[in-house]
Amino acid sequence: LIGMILMLIVAYFIGNVSPSILIGKAKGIDIKKEGSGNAGTTNALRVLGKKAAVATLVIDVLKGTLAVVLGGVLLGQVTAAWCVAAVFAGHVWPAFFGFRGGKGVATAFGALCGYLPAMGFTALAIVVVGVLISRRMSFGSILGAATFPLVAYFYDKSFVPIGTVLAVLVIIKHRANIVRLIHGEEPKLGEKKKETG
Ligand code: G3P
Repeated sequence: LIGMILMLIVAYFIGNVSPSILIGKAKGIDIKKEGSGNAGTTNALRVLGKKAAVATLVIDVLKGTLAVVLGGVLLGQVTAAWCVAAVFAGHVWPAFFGFRGGKGVATAFGALCGYLPAMGFTALAIVVVGVLISRRMSFGSILGAATFPLVAYFYDKSFVPIGTVLAVLVIIKHRANIVRLIHGEEPKLGEKKKETG
């Protein structure tokens, strides 16, 4: 149990490594204060540019995979499942950055791929469909989260409780996006309209 707790702490701090915040700092831009104020790929594309967005996406996904694979290799699948939650929490509420991080979508995808790749890619496919029909990253993310409990049920019933909690958290993190979507004020992917939340 001690090993598992230590592993979860390590996974949490792997999640803290937030490329969009760090690249922003290097450019003298506080990503938490620009665009949607979110430390993620979508907002990096909005306020830091394409290269920064690609770097953010790759690192946020891979840190999720790394934390979960590490947990799985060292301590097995049960620890790996909890590492999905720990690395997600580390990304969304990073102690290193005042507990204000991202919305967890890319990191959750990477983490799920570390746990059960088919489940991760199925969730990704749903997100992509949502983005293609709406042209908004947020809508795809919300659709992916809302359908995730069912996806988890299909692939691995033991993961439904953790997966459902994470899905609810992703949706809660998107509450400002939901309000903007309802009011028709959510910018399209790559659009640079001013907004907060
Ligand atoms: O994963 C975050 C994305 O769904 C929305 O990001 O910056 O538009 O709030 P943003």
